[in-house]
Amino acid sequence: MSKPFRIGLAGLGTVGAGVVKIIQKNGHLLEKRAGRPIEIAAVSAKDRTRDRGVDLSAYDWVEKTGDLANYKDLDAVVEVIGGSEGPAADLVRASLKNGRHVVTANKALLALHGDELANLADEKGACLMFEAAVAGGVPIIKAMREGLAANEIKSIYGILNGTCNYILTTMRQTGRSFDDVLKEAQAQGYAEADPAFDIDGIDAAHKLCILAAIGFGVKPDFKSLSIEGIRHINTTDIAYATEFGYRIKLLGIARRENGKILQVMEPCLVPIESPMGIIDDVYNAVYVEGDFVETPLFTGKGAGQGPTASSVVSDLIDLARGHRLPAFGIPAKDLKAAVWADPGETVNSYYLRLMVLDRAGVIADVSAILRDKNISIEGLVQRGRDPGQPVPVIITTHETRHADMMAACELIEKLDCCVEKPRAMCIEEL
Ligand SMILES: NC(=O)c1ccc[n+]([C@@H]2O[C@H](COP(=O)([O-])OP(=O)(O)OC[C@H]3O[C@@H](n4cnc5c(N)ncnc54)[C@H](OP(=O)(O)O)[C@@H]3O)[C@@H](O)[C@H]2O)c1
Repeated sequence: MSKPFRIGLAGLGTVGAGVVKIIQKNGHLLEKRAGRPIEIAAVSAKDRTRDRGVDLSAYDWVEKTGDLANYKDLDAVVEVIGGSEGPAADLVRASLKNGRHVVTANKALLALHGDELANLADEKGACLMFEAAVAGGVPIIKAMREGLAANEIKSIYGILNGTCNYILTTMRQTGRSFDDVLKEAQAQGYAEADPAFDIDGIDAAHKLCILAAIGFGVKPDFKSLSIEGIRHINTTDIAYATEFGYRIKLLGIARRENGKILQVMEPCLVPIESPMGIIDDVYNAVYVEGDFVETPLFTGKGAGQGPTASSVVSDLIDLARGHRLPAFGIPAKDLKAAVWADPGETVNSYYLRLMVLDRAGVIADVSAILRDKNISIEGLVQRGRDPGQPVPVIITTHETRHADMMAACELIEKLDCCVEKPRAMCIEEL
């Protein structure tokens, strides 16, 4: 029998327990595919007594997670603890320093420290693998690093957070408010008790940062990303977007613009029948534009035990086969510091929602501000009448500089007829 590929598993929560289940259930299949058995030698988590619904009796329990970095005869360490700092980061660093391969699902760690870790891996002849870190069960890292390697990537668009997509889909389908649907998502286990990472766009931005690094050969640079979440989206936005032929999606965009790279995470309107418009519920999708392949779309479940653990184990099979690749597709020393495009200079059509008092002269005041900021109105809708009371006014614009739109919103907010912060979302005609 070929020598087993031995792993140490750090973290036995949702993903870690899923990895154990796959290796226990599909062991024979994995052995055939990898050419050798994949064997869990040691495991570690915080609480040894916790029932995880899997039999761990055959594995050595390692009390101090960091000791897996030096544990005898391991071929790889799997880190599924999470967090950009602390025990997960310490273990990954120490394992790579020892020349030990690492498989992780930790997008926060990669977005913040990916450059340093990829360099460390290259220096020590180890591999840093992270298929599970982006879009759960969708093999997008493999697709971008290998399947699309012949192409110059022009743009990447992603729906990268299943919780946000579920909230936006459910609001549309049921007419319920953001807060109401968020509570339901928490009760169903889609959103964390503190959902900020999801709904403020941070989790999705971590993933976009990783995709941009692979797609454009640049150092992952989370701090340069412009991020806006979905807290402010209301049922008026959803209803008007549908009426105009659009869906609202939290969209990650990374694209080449005039020799620079634009990297933004923000809610956008996309056409209902477009590749991103058709992605609903907890599904994720990544749409890539390459110079020869054109526009493949990758979609599937972006989180959950089965899909995420499936991606972790696929990395283990690759390693057991002897497949070796640099973390971000090219040697880490060749990753460039990107020249990032200023999101303020991007040009798009916009959807603008105002809550203004229903009285004479309001539209004239708003129009004057838009005119002064060089913004041309494509359409304007104000339904119903409620004299003296706030009513929604929805405006769509022709192509407009982002900075001009933001400046116009600030001026409109100062009008005494304006009772809520104006909200602008760009329209991406994908
Ligand atoms: N869940 C998903 O659908 C999903 C999808 C994609 C990526 N990911 C990523 O996968 C990673 C794990 O996520 P998860 O959902 O599996 O998290 P989880 O269910 O909270 O599990 C975390 C595990 O880490 C262990 N742990 C926490 N602090 C520790 C410490 N100081 N020392 C040792 N072990 C510690 C916990 O031990 P105890 O069990 O003893 O408390 C638990 O087993 C994260 O990076 C996450 O972003 C998750």
